[in-house]
Amino acid sequence: MKLQNVVHSQQFDIKTLDELFAMAREMEIIAKNGSNLLTGKIMGTLFYEPSTRTRMSFESAMLKLGGNVISTENAKEFSSATKGETVEDTIRVMEGYVDVIVMRHYREGSAERAAQTTTIPFINAGDGTGQHPTQALLDLYTIQKELGKINGISIAMVGDLAHGRTVRSLAYLLAKYKGIKIYFVAPKSVKMNQDIKLYLKKHKIEFIEEDSLKVVAPKVDVIYQTRIQRERFVEKENLEEYEEAHGKYIIDNSILDIMKSNSIIMHPLPRAGEIRKEVDSDPRAAYFRQAQNGLYLRMALLKALLVG
Ligand code: CP
Repeated sequence: MKLQNVVHSQQFDIKTLDELFAMAREMEIIAKNGSNLLTGKIMGTLFYEPSTRTRMSFESAMLKLGGNVISTENAKEFSSATKGETVEDTIRVMEGYVDVIVMRHYREGSAERAAQTTTIPFINAGDGTGQHPTQALLDLYTIQKELGKINGISIAMVGDLAHGRTVRSLAYLLAKYKGIKIYFVAPKSVKMNQDIKLYLKKHKIEFIEEDSLKVVAPKVDVIYQTRIQRERFVEKENLEEYEEAHGKYIIDNSILDIMKSNSIIMHPLPRAGEIRKEVDSDPRAAYFRQAQNGLYLRMALLKALLVG
């Protein structure tokens, strides 16, 4: 399997996903001892928005495979973007220094522009409220590992679905599978956008908008909780709406009590109070295992992009 870029979830087919997940499984063993597979290769990480998991797991993945990393962790402030350099020019320059570029940008569509500019492998690590495809890949890998299947699952996507690039990318990926049922549970101001609903309809994926998490929780195999993204409300100068949405859907012991015994709780993290700490010790709390899977999946992606 040789990939050129990772820009959006729609680019993947089931065969590629199966191969990627099999490779991620192998990476779980390789990660323990390290490897020389990417010795001599350099990954450049350009992050114009904050990140802990995505940047650290990509950098760890590269180092575990024997490669090197150069990085700007706050590219919005510390790269030549402050002097007015375009994404295209930055990418043209970076490709002379590195073998693969991982970029997170605050503007939707920037990943597409970067991928169209570069001749070396490019990875979208999140573009504004657009997509976060590598998160969706690790989410799906987690579902398969935890539940033993993807076809036929029911999932509740909860929280900020309007700004959530992780749920958008995950919905696109789930649309490739059979028998999927999605519940959207979101405050009024951050409901799932029409483009995703139209895509799901077109691909004959059943989805239901539901107001009550208590009604949905006993029915689903996965609760995928997300944070209400305060920073997006700040940009729109609408903190009143944020306050209304924040705190509407909280996962605590009362939700655990009504969930199926073999279901799981996922979250792309970071969380900001929407999953109570009391939930962490329940075996159904899969979000830290999910973050760990990001390392294995991203090791697999780097191999697929740089070696094949
Ligand atoms: N899930 C995720 O993208 O986390 P970070 O913002 O910390 O990278």
